[in-house]
Amino acid sequence: MKVEVQAAAFEDKAVVRRLMELYLYDFTEFLPHELNEHGEFGYRYLDHYWAPDDRETRLPFLIRADGKLAGFALVRKVGDGPWKMAEFFVLRMYRRAGFGSEAAGAVFEKFPGAWEVHEVAANTPAQAFWRRVIGTATGGHFEEEVTADAVVQRFRISEPVAPA
Ligand SMILES: CC(C)(COP(=O)(O)OP(=O)(O)OC[C@H]1O[C@@H](n2cnc3c(N)ncnc32)[C@H](O)[C@@H]1OP(=O)(O)O)[C@@H](O)C(=O)NCCC(=O)NCCS
Repeated sequence: MKVEVQAAAFEDKAVVRRLMELYLYDFTEFLPHELNEHGEFGYRYLDHYWAPDDRETRLPFLIRADGKLAGFALVRKVGDGPWKMAEFFVLRMYRRAGFGSEAAGAVFEKFPGAWEVHEVAANTPAQAFWRRVIGTATGGHFEEEVTADAVVQRFRISEPVAPA
C-alpha cells in the first residue's frame, strides 16, 4: 500500500476534527477525557492549525493509505524551539502494518532540525512505536527523558543530502 502524508487544507479541517474524535476516544485508554454535552471530546487547539500566528507554527497533515484516509499528524513549533509532533494517529484497521512508521518518517523529512516527541506515561505502545521510528530516522542517535508523567525523545533530523 502507498502511504502519503498530505498537508490538510482549510477544507479538510472538518475531516481532521472527526479523526481527532476517534483519536481522543482511543486516548481515553490512557487519559480520562470526558465527553461534552454534544457527545464530543473536542480539541481546543484545532482552529489554531489553520490560523497563521507570528509566534507559533502549527501544521496539520492527513495520512492516506492507497488514497484512503488512514490518520493524521499535527506538527508544531514555538518560536525557535524544536519541531514537535503534537498529535499523531493511525486508524486501528491500518495499524501494525508499518503505515505509522512510514508516515512519521515522511513528516520528519519535511522538517529537518531539532525535534521533540512526547508520549504520556501510560501510552506504552506509542513509546515502543516512537523509539523504533526515531531510532530508524536518526541511526539510534536520540536522547530520551522519562518522568512520572511522560516520555520525551529529543533528536535531530538531518538536511537531505543533495544528489551528486
Ligand atoms: C502508535 C501508532 C501511531 C502506531 O501506528 P502503526 O501504524 O500501528 O505503527 P507501525 O505499524 O509503523 O509500527 C512500527 C513499530 O512500532 C512498534 N509498535 C507499534 N504499535 C505498537 C504496539 N501497539 N505495541 C507495541 N509496539 C508497537 C512496533 O515495534 C512496530 O513494529 P512491528 O509491528 O514490526 O512490531 C498507532 O497505534 C496509533 O495511532 N495509536 C493511537 C494514537 C497514539 O497513541 N498516537 C501517538 C501519540 S504520542
